[in-house]
Parts: sequence; structure tokens; C-alpha cells
Amino acid sequence: MSHQTVIVLDFGGQYNQLIARRVRECGVYCEVKPYTTPLAQLKALNPIGIIFTGGPNSVYLEDSPRVDGEIFTWGVPILGICYGCQLMAHSLGGQVTQAQDDSAREYGKTVTYYDTSCRLFDGLPEEGVSWMSHGDYMARVPEGFALTARSDACPNVAIADEARRFYGVQFHPEVNHTRHGVDMIRNFLYKVCGAVGDWTMEDYKHTAIAAVREKVGGGKVLLALSGGVDSSVVAALLAEAVGPQLTCVFVDHGLMRKNEGDEVEAAFSKWNINFIRVDAETRFLLKLAGVSEPEHKRKIIGEEFIRVFEEEAKKIGAVDFLAQGTIYPDVIESGAGDAAVIKSHHNVGGLPDYVDFKEIIEPLRLLFKDEVRQLGRELGLPEYLVSRQPFPGPGLAIRIMGDITKEKADLLREADFIFREEIAKAGEEKNLSQYFAVLTNTRSVGVMGDGRTYDYTLALRAVVTDDFMTADWARIPYEVLDRISVRIVNEVPGINRIVYDITSKPPATVEWE
Ligand code: XMP
Repeated sequence: MSHQTVIVLDFGGQYNQLIARRVRECGVYCEVKPYTTPLAQLKALNPIGIIFTGGPNSVYLEDSPRVDGEIFTWGVPILGICYGCQLMAHSLGGQVTQAQDDSAREYGKTVTYYDTSCRLFDGLPEEGVSWMSHGDYMARVPEGFALTARSDACPNVAIADEARRFYGVQFHPEVNHTRHGVDMIRNFLYKVCGAVGDWTMEDYKHTAIAAVREKVGGGKVLLALSGGVDSSVVAALLAEAVGPQLTCVFVDHGLMRKNEGDEVEAAFSKWNINFIRVDAETRFLLKLAGVSEPEHKRKIIGEEFIRVFEEEAKKIGAVDFLAQGTIYPDVIESGAGDAAVIKSHHNVGGLPDYVDFKEIIEPLRLLFKDEVRQLGRELGLPEYLVSRQPFPGPGLAIRIMGDITKEKADLLREADFIFREEIAKAGEEKNLSQYFAVLTNTRSVGVMGDGRTYDYTLALRAVVTDDFMTADWARIPYEVLDRISVRIVNEVPGINRIVYDITSKPPATVEWE
């Protein structure tokens, strides 16, 4: 099934993923391409429109990102955002300079006045608030362009050449702070580019299934299924596309949450696939015995996982394809350069060379997390799997401080289950990005009945975040925390004290290890 495509041409701005997401939210398929993509390749995609993103550079500098000038004679509509707007102005004979005085530099929420006869602002209120982030100023706009929005400080917040269907805005319509920003993007797509809204998740599902079938043919596919959202959705997609040719290896390392392994297995029982669940609890616990240093735990688990997977892969023999649940933000992050390693959990990009396969397939490579969840629902995965909060690969191993034993893992599983159950009952799930219990290795004195106890302290952790790079501790209502605390100390012998973690990230991290 073919659909209309919009290209988001990436000039390195921080909101580029968000632009792509907004376009899809409007029911239009879109792909992000680096600005260096040759024009011929862009043309081959036959886009109905192009959006130039923002970027950190100044167009008047020699080595700033540029585009092939022919893009402006091709006849395709263009919306330039921030740097993209300035680039368009600069390329078409306007003049962009560094803002001389502070008033022409704009950052943050800015009252903006729109000319609603411009197609971009059609149907919007004449006054609104836009999110600005620019230090450069369009001193002269190119011939053919009209000024279509202004702020108190700046007369040319937006420009338009309706005849050539070129639009530029100095602000960021893609961020929530810009009131009606999504409507502007929708206007560009529908009123300028002639979008028909032919991209739905159901279409995408059919397209993706067809693409997998075509690529895989009669070949064999192997997938390491973790039970997380991404690998589960890949598994469901492949199951639907090439069922019996797929083998999913689900390594249960014994450090999953309560009932998790069974839930994952149950979810896939409706498809005719080869599902291998390896119960490797004893093996992992043996390797982890006596180890308390977090990075060491991660390393052991990572290596052991590879061993187990390798053994299973050997039994299966050569496969044609190894499938991976890489999603778009992973693609971006893995190219992010050389930030310091705080925790060694970002392992995207490292292809396993220990499995005999010909090619890798990554069917979710162009999707964002919420789109992956939507696709999962479309494929018929149960809600508890698709809306699942992130769960680290090493599982409970990094939530048990100090050395790991089966007893401690069982204790933590029970406590964590109660925490999650009470959060669900209180309807707090939607307010939290991630929440879990941590078994500290601190023991303290308590009193139960008439007796003294000397048991473990359990920490509850709940955070709110968009990207997990920074996070705020969640303000769970006291009465909910109280119910959780009472239930855990009553129902889980071995725990006599509950604390709630009120640290944000930074300076803390989400996990305790
Ligand atoms: P931190 O603790 O780094 O967590 O603030 C940020 C997010 O990453 C998850 N996390 C991991 N995920 N393997 C993973 O697959 C790991 O070793 C790991 N450590 C942390 C964490 O759960 C949170 O969502």
C-alpha cells in the first residue's frame, strides 16, 4: 500500500523527532533525512512536502549546513522552522544577521500575532503564544515573501510565498508551548501540500507486514524476545507476517517481575510461531552469587545472556535474519557521540556476531515509542504488554542492592507486585513514567506484635520524565503511599520498613544501581 510522504530534512535541531511525530499524528507518513541527503534521493521518495528543521548554526557562517539550491525550483512545498526558515530566506536572496540588540533575540514563550489570511495560519486565532529559540534575525526577507506573523519585538516572525508554497516560521510549532502549533503543521500538510491523511496505524501494520514478507521470503528469522514493549511488538509483527518461519528465544533469567515470564509466553500463544522459553534462573543466579558491584552484575548478565542465546541459536542452526527491536530514538541516541558512560546499558548498534545470520531486520526503526505501542495494539497484543513501563535488561539484579539470592529476588518480586497493584488501583499509573521497588541491603530494627524484628528496608521509586535523561520524583499521594507501605510490611515477611525516594535525576539516577 503506498501513501503520501513528507520529508523532514534534519539540520541538527533538538526537536526534529518531535516534528516527525507531529506529522504522523496528523495522519501523514513522514521520514527524517539528514540535510546531506542528495537531492535525487529526496526526489525518489516523491514527497508531497518538505519541512526544514531547526538547527544550532547560523546561516551566514561559511560552514553552516546548506541545501542544494535546486530544491527551491523543484516545485515541492517547503516549511522552514527556525534555522530552516533562515536558511530558506538566506538561500533565496534575503539577509539573515546576528541580532544586534537583545530585543531581536527571542527565547521562550512569546506573544505572537498571526495573519490568518496566510494558509499556514488559516482558522487560527489572530493572537497566540509561540515558542521562540533564535538569536539570528531576518534583516531582509527574500523577494516574493510576505510577512505573516510578528511579535512585539520582531516584525518578521513568519514569512510566506504563497505562490511558490514556501513558508517559514522563526518559532517552533512542533512543541507544546506553541499554542495551535500542531494546527499550523496540519494546515501546511492539508491546505498547502494536499495531504489526504492516508497514514493510520492500521495501514502501517499492513505495509510493515507486506514489507517483512517481501524481504524475508521463505527465510528463517530469529528474535531475542525480552518481554519489553519493543521486542514484543517486533515479535507480534513477525508472527503475523511469517509465523512458522519465526523463532523467538525468550531467556528467562529469573530476575523478572512477578508473573512476567508467564504473561509474555501467554501473549504469544495465539500465533503459530516457534517460541522457546529458556528457564535459566539457576544458571544466572550461580554466576551472580556473591557479586555486589552494579556494573559487574550488568556485565555478567549481558555475557550470560549471550551464552544462553548462542546455545539456543546453535540448536536452530543457520538463520537468514536476526530481528531486532530498534526504534527511532535508539537510532538517534546511538549516533549521539561520546557522552560519559554512567551505566553501561545502551547497547544499540552492537550487532551480535555470535549468531550465524545473513542479515539484520529492524521493522520498528522508523517509529517512536508511542507509535510502537499503537502498532502493538493494532497487532492484538494485550494492553499490559504494550503499555508496559520500561524494565531494565538486567532486571531485578540492579534493584537488589548488594549480592543477589533467590530469597531476596522473591521478596522484592512480592513487594514490587503490591506496589504496582496499589498504583493501578489508585489510578496513578498514567501519572508515572516508571515505578518500582528496590531492596536495599540495609536492615533495621522494628517491632511486630510483641516481638522485635531486624529486617530489610525497602525503597519505593517512582519518577516522571519524558526522556529518562532527566527525571523528577513523582508526587504520589500520601494515602496511596500509606496503603502500599501497610500492605508490604504486613504481607511480605522480611521487610519491616519502607522509604520513598524523593531525589530527582540528576543528581540521582532512576535506578539505584
Ligand atoms: P538510569 O538509572 O540510568 O535509568 O537513570 C534510565 C532508564 O534506563 C533504564 N536502565 C536500564 N535499561 N539495562 C537496560 O536495559 C540497564 O542496565 C539499565 N539501567 C537503567 C532504567 O530502568 C530507566 O528506564
